Amino acid sequence: MPVSPNRKAKPSIFSLKRYIDRGVKLVNAALNQHLPKASAKPKTLHESMRYSMFAGGKRLRPILCMAAAEACGGRASDSLILGSAAECIHTYSLIHDDLPGMDDDDLRRGKPTNHVVYGEGIAVLAGDALLTLAFDLANQARPTKRYKQNDYVGELAKTAGHAELIAGQVADLEGEGKPVTRAQLRYIHERKTSALLTCSVRLGGMSANATPRQLQALTDFGYHVGLAFQVIDDILDVTQSSEQLGKTAGKDAAVQKATYPSIVGLAKSRKIATDLTAKAYSALKPLKGKAVALEALADYLLKRDH
Ligand code: IPE
Ligand code: IPE
Ligand code: MG
Ligand code: MG
Ligand code: MG
Repeated sequence: MPVSPNRKAKPSIFSLKRYIDRGVKLVNAALNQHLPKASAKPKTLHESMRYSMFAGGKRLRPILCMAAAEACGGRASDSLILGSAAECIHTYSLIHDDLPGMDDDDLRRGKPTNHVVYGEGIAVLAGDALLTLAFDLANQARPTKRYKQNDYVGELAKTAGHAELIAGQVADLEGEGKPVTRAQLRYIHERKTSALLTCSVRLGGMSANATPRQLQALTDFGYHVGLAFQVIDDILDVTQSSEQLGKTAGKDAAVQKATYPSIVGLAKSRKIATDLTAKAYSALKPLKGKAVALEALADYLLKRDH
């Protein structure tokens, strides 16, 4: 049917809900493809990896990875394997974070934690296997003109390693029950949480052959969103129920964790998260209006209730 020339095309309205729903589906399908089958030997290990991976995480890291790829003019589908690698590292970090020697939690993603179901030994090994799988996936990702597999693998190794994610977890553990300054808390959040969120958006950008300027914008964005994310996580631990969170609420205060609410109170913590999100927004300027999804995700992460 011919379209009348004066009928204006409807502007497409960005729906974050649709974007996230589509992202979760794509990510779950990719993860299902890349994780070993539950029936393959050693069965207990593979079941345990799948148990935590498919327990119902929000998939924020791979969704941010996809949105970053699109913001640099790339395709979500080309970023999926790298986003899956980030989700493997994230899920491993949660399995280990919940172990009795760490945060000693028995609820995660709305289900009993991995070690509660499979025992500590298998939980440690399932974490190890997910961490290792991440590098295998990064090594299978498609190279671009500017970035090769060794760039992806190096990015993940640096983020997950001794100076970033693990350093943050060490400082988090060692800070329990001790007075911690705001600078020390910032150090913890930069490493245990912000590093992997930054890595996720950088990998998305790299999968889209991002220019150095675009990659820097994504790095600044990821850093600030990542910090805001952990401040909100600390706030939710105080304000929400375990049912709502799918993990034990009130746990941070019970074990005297260093958190923003414990150091500066709830109101100031909310202000800090809002300010960090504003900085994340400004970081997107060099992407010249192409980062609608990243903007909407930053806002959603600030306002989330679980
Ligand atoms: C929880 O991360 C751990 C933190 C870094 C605060 P998420 O809130 O993204 O957990 P899932 O993946 O949805 O379970
Ligand atoms: C999570 O910090 C950081 C990592 C898992 C690396 P938390 O210990 O606050 O995370 P939750 O609250 O248990 O999800
Ligand atoms: Mg922890
Ligand atoms: Mg924890
Ligand atoms: Mg927490």
